[in-house]
Amino acid sequence: MNNLTIQKLKDKKEIPWSLLLLADPSKKIIEKYIYDSDTYVSYVNNEVVGVYVLINLSSDTVELKNIAVDGQYQGKGIGKQLVLDAINKAKSKGAKRIEVGTGNSSLSQLALYQKCGFRIIGVEKNFFTKYYKEEIIENGIKCIDMIRLAIEL
Ligand code: COA
Repeated sequence: MNNLTIQKLKDKKEIPWSLLLLADPSKKIIEKYIYDSDTYVSYVNNEVVGVYVLINLSSDTVELKNIAVDGQYQGKGIGKQLVLDAINKAKSKGAKRIEVGTGNSSLSQLALYQKCGFRIIGVEKNFFTKYYKEEIIENGIKCIDMIRLAIEL
């Protein structure tokens, strides 16, 4: 989308919770990382349409922790623009690697990340059944394991 702008959130009071909860159904888990990370909000005509969050995992590795696009705006290329922007932001922070994790059942997210250059690097077995109380089902598949992906920058 041409008229998309992306800005780093300055005031944590303006955290777009409803968007973040699209990507991660647990507010408790989001609260564990959101205050120690950089949140980037995207706008179309001053309306908040998307978000992504970057956190430093180590001195040279950044994790794309949460990414979401408002339902009305999904499927228009915004998610891809946000992932590519996150990769560029990680590079400009001096990171050597960017990682992301998603569910074994998150088929379109796995497609999106791989189309943006991420490669699968591992599986965190039973992550979702261990840390999430509610069962997660997507595409008729139970979400059990976290698939980890990364790009060497
Ligand atoms: N097979 C192949 N490609 C697929 C696919 C599939 N099943 N599903 C999606 N894609 C591709 C699209 O074709 C597109 O690639 P292209 O531009 O090369 O054609 C890309 O994935 C994503 O499209 P885009 O329109 O940029 O995505 P979006 O704006 O809808 O945003 C999400 C994607 C995931 C951020 C959005 O759907 C969302 O907010 N979902 C809920 C929150 C979430 O799940 N976040 C991720 C947590 S890990």
